[in-house]
Amino acid sequence: MTTSLVDDLQREFGGLRGRTVLVRSDLNVPLDGPAADRVITDEGRIRASVPTIQALADAGARVLVLAHLGRPQGAPDPACSLAPVAARLGELLGAEVAFATDTVGENAHRTAAALGEGEVAVLENVRFNAGETSKDDAVRGAFADQLAALADAFVSDGFGVVHRKEASVYDVAQRLPRAMGNLVAAEIDVLARLTRDPERPYVVVLGGSKVSDKLGVIDNLLGKADMLLIGGGMAFTFLKAQGHEVGRSLLEEDQLETCRAHLRRAEESGVRIVLPTDIVVDTAFPSEAREPQPVVVSASEIPADALGLDIGPESAAAFAVALAGARTVFWNGPMGVFEVDAFADGTRAVALALTEVDGLSVVGGGDSAAAVRRLGFEESTFGHISTGGGASLEYLEGKPLPGLEVLR
Ligand code: 3PG
Repeated sequence: MTTSLVDDLQREFGGLRGRTVLVRSDLNVPLDGPAADRVITDEGRIRASVPTIQALADAGARVLVLAHLGRPQGAPDPACSLAPVAARLGELLGAEVAFATDTVGENAHRTAAALGEGEVAVLENVRFNAGETSKDDAVRGAFADQLAALADAFVSDGFGVVHRKEASVYDVAQRLPRAMGNLVAAEIDVLARLTRDPERPYVVVLGGSKVSDKLGVIDNLLGKADMLLIGGGMAFTFLKAQGHEVGRSLLEEDQLETCRAHLRRAEESGVRIVLPTDIVVDTAFPSEAREPQPVVVSASEIPADALGLDIGPESAAAFAVALAGARTVFWNGPMGVFEVDAFADGTRAVALALTEVDGLSVVGGGDSAAAVRRLGFEESTFGHISTGGGASLEYLEGKPLPGLEVLR
């Protein structure tokens, strides 16, 4: 286990009491509703961020939380304000959490100056500042200088964002005494177990909409996992690569050749890639205006006017059987449009199978983590639910992650 961040910082300062600590958390949660009345639909990342913030507050630090929400284009956008997230964080901490209406401006400085020992404030979305995501090191660095000017130390606790070379993740860590937060440390401990000598059979379930997001991880897993189960929107590009028609289902034509190459490589290396054999289709994407009309069809006979919206019952049962024999499982990406009951069964079946794994089961962030909570599963029935979507995939891909590299 990585050493405790509070210990690290206590050693650095001879105590945290009264020191101002910037904490980069990943509070990028899904929200619904109009800009003026946003409702958080999955608060998993906020909950996961609480222990580190609480530990610093308990040690007497003045805690300034940095985070992003959505992808605003370097300027304020009310729909991406962190105000509702700050309010919820306060409820979860059971303490008042101040909110600064800018990130490094006058309000942030005033908010920071007003913080007492053990108090917490959230600064407005770091991505309202063009410097946060700039590709120009000097521009990012100038913004990081402004962030660093607010505090005495930096704690990196936003695992979901460590794959981003952004000012509040990477550059600010070069400018202040820094430590790895407990959440990042815990995530790495678990994910490292998947890359170093996992217990076998090691089964990976991949889903979600975009095959292009997952090709890198598939490439890497072909040398490591015993079996890959592929569902969700990304399965249709694989089915097409095998020669099946997929109707109006999601398809990334430009990835067909890579999918074929992966299928060939899997066969040569003895890794089983399992695709759905049946699909739940409809003639339109679910909307409030129309009742879903789900129909189960064979994966080799998807009608030309149909959209694949979930894996079918035969596929779900086959995936569950494969998972029942696994000793290590990593799952990233839902099997279908789980937000709509008619298309949630595939995702539910995979989640249930993971809860029964005799070994290590890891739910890899983003939509799959939201799905298990939405479908009512107890979080404690999984080995680990990661807060990182892209970050956990890139970790498993073996890519260097800037937010971790900078802490070394
Ligand atoms: C995520 O949602 O995966 C993280 O918060 C990173 O967000 P991003 O993909 O917008 O950088």
